[in-house]
Amino acid sequence: MNKQLRKAVIAGNWKMNKTPAEAKTLVEEMIPLTKDADCGVVVCVPYVDLCTVLDAVKGTNIEVGAENCHWEKSGAYTGEISADMLTSMGVKYVIIGHSERRTYFGDTDVTVQKRVRAALDAGLTVILCVGEYLEQREQGVTNELVAMQTKIALGGVSCEELSRVIIAYEPVWAIGTGKTATAEQANEVCAEIRRVLSSLYGSEAANGVTIQYGGSMNAKNAEELLDQPDVDGGLIGGASLKAEDFSIIVKAASR
Ligand code: 13P
Repeated sequence: MNKQLRKAVIAGNWKMNKTPAEAKTLVEEMIPLTKDADCGVVVCVPYVDLCTVLDAVKGTNIEVGAENCHWEKSGAYTGEISADMLTSMGVKYVIIGHSERRTYFGDTDVTVQKRVRAALDAGLTVILCVGEYLEQREQGVTNELVAMQTKIALGGVSCEELSRVIIAYEPVWAIGTGKTATAEQANEVCAEIRRVLSSLYGSEAANGVTIQYGGSMNAKNAEELLDQPDVDGGLIGGASLKAEDFSIIVKAASR
């Protein structure tokens, strides 16, 4: 990647894993292993773990994110969490549009766009997830689909706000399956996303955006994926639940 232009960021997505006590143990293991990182290190954790993890990482280089947020500021939305609630705790990042939210919880390109808007308005940095299903890849529509997801999600986002957007390319068929995209496949789609950003915001702004790959990235394949010119980091599921594996990926992004 081009380190002069943009910062590598490795973010863990813990998904629905770890009680607060387990979260404390895991993040405390991560702190010494990732302290020399020459890249951004973020852990996105379940809402109930935020307090514990924020407290545990105080004074370290690890930053904390949530895994989703609602688009309204407050109101009758039982079970939901607003972006302002997150920032008031000290949360800096939020994942929006993860394929699991789209597949199981009815998130659409339109609700993703609304969540992105709310998160940016609250001052959060967004990790926006885009990616295709296997059938879509086989139909040859990956680039069009990812371009459309990116464009809709960023509707109304200014060039200045774009500096608080990270995009994670996560092919759905590679998530939790152990089937990683090849380094070339990952780079091709990340480069396509950058072309879309360039068409919307110009090449200088597009070159400054961190574009991550996510989908079975692990301690073994991270280096090859992160060596690609348009892959600026990773959004890590399973391997982010093991401090040692996560730190190996952080080291691969720090070279
Ligand atoms: P895995 O690394 O477990 O495939 O998950 C990737 C992911 O969904 C990160 O958001």
